[in-house]
Amino acid sequence: MASPRGEFRSRMGFILAAAGSAVGLGNIWGFPTQAASNGGAAFLLTYLLLAFVLAYPALMAELLIGRHTHRNMVMALGSLPQSRTLAALGRLTGMGGLLTASMILSFYAIVAGWMLGFAASYPLDAVGLTAASEWLVTFTVPRNLSLMLIFMALTMAVVLGGVEDGIERWSRRLMPLLIATLIALALYVLTLEGALTGLSIYLLPDFGKVLSSDLLIDALGSAFFSLSLGVGTMLIYGSYLSDTENVPRVGAQVALLDVGIAVLAGFLILPAMYVADARGVAIFNEAGGLLSEDTLIFTVLPALFETIDTAGIFLATAFFILMSIAALTSSISMLEVPVAYLIERHHLPRGKATLLAGGFIAGFSALVVLNFGTLFGAVITISTRYSQPLLGLLICIFAGWLWQRDALLQELRKNDADAENRLFWRIWPVYVKWLCPVIIGIILVQSVI
Ligand code: TRP
Repeated sequence: MASPRGEFRSRMGFILAAAGSAVGLGNIWGFPTQAASNGGAAFLLTYLLLAFVLAYPALMAELLIGRHTHRNMVMALGSLPQSRTLAALGRLTGMGGLLTASMILSFYAIVAGWMLGFAASYPLDAVGLTAASEWLVTFTVPRNLSLMLIFMALTMAVVLGGVEDGIERWSRRLMPLLIATLIALALYVLTLEGALTGLSIYLLPDFGKVLSSDLLIDALGSAFFSLSLGVGTMLIYGSYLSDTENVPRVGAQVALLDVGIAVLAGFLILPAMYVADARGVAIFNEAGGLLSEDTLIFTVLPALFETIDTAGIFLATAFFILMSIAALTSSISMLEVPVAYLIERHHLPRGKATLLAGGFIAGFSALVVLNFGTLFGAVITISTRYSQPLLGLLICIFAGWLWQRDALLQELRKNDADAENRLFWRIWPVYVKWLCPVIIGIILVQSVI
């Protein structure tokens, strides 16, 4: 028999962990800046639409497959089809997910390390340790390497604790802190001069910019990235969900939280940019567009914080702690993908599995740090632009075509005797079967051409 698996203790624990996975650097940093340069509220609406029309059904495919099989992605997809060839394809897809999750973690840990560095640099500077503070925010190989290793160690420490005592416990602690910090920071920044300009840019729609197909591809990509789809993170969290939970409902709550926090982050980032503008910090590039995302986080915001003297130190520290927390609750969900596989398929104890997977990913990440110019961008593009949507497409095909309808209905009936008469049952099965693959396919083909 398989070893006893972990299971989330409570519904709230699951929702916070899954939302913690979803809410990450993508929401707080990617979404607001994309919205700012792409038509403000019009982008917001497009994103909301894509999130609920495409990402939510795909999220449900992962959660339901996970909850049904109570297995990691490799074994789960391998067990759905009846035919042996298709089962092998399932295992291959699962391995693809495992590798992609690991690749995503390898670049994510580098960026998250920078967040840790910035968070520590402000207090250090304030107590006079200027050299250390400077070292932490300057782009060098030793600094990138050490911060990445520290972040990977934190991630491994949480995953080592297991589902209940690691992932669930830390998500329950960190997520409320994240939301509270975000709201407090946004409220403060909104009182500063210039904030209202940013707010109006965020909330006034400019539909002209939204209808370009490039933008749709980007918005779809960010919706997928933002909900952690395609690589088995949501599948594995779903597999730790109790059979008594109503999956369509908790899935919707997770998606709402994810989108809600992205939207909330817009109320901080956009006003902050225009506060910076009012204080003479450059926020536009030569072409008149807003500065790109990385410049924004690591140049514009620090420059803004510096103009606010003492309060600025607290703001800056709080902001980068917020980013680090968001990154950590996401990175643990990525590491859990290979770890769960090693535990279930190769019967390793959790400790060994965590050290092995974490060590391997940290090693690969170190390789990326050492060859930053050639590897960093390539790893991001391969994993998020191509691999992730492709795997998402395959998961929809598995859920829609290779999972028997009766078995699916039984899965939904586990906690809802009336599942057959629900709107979800009337729409979703047809939807993942036809619409999801077709739309993702079209967008994918376009992005390759
Ligand atoms: N969704 C997270 C973010 O917005 C990142 C993330 C966590 C992720 N797990 C993932 C992205 C799996 C892709 C795949 O930052």
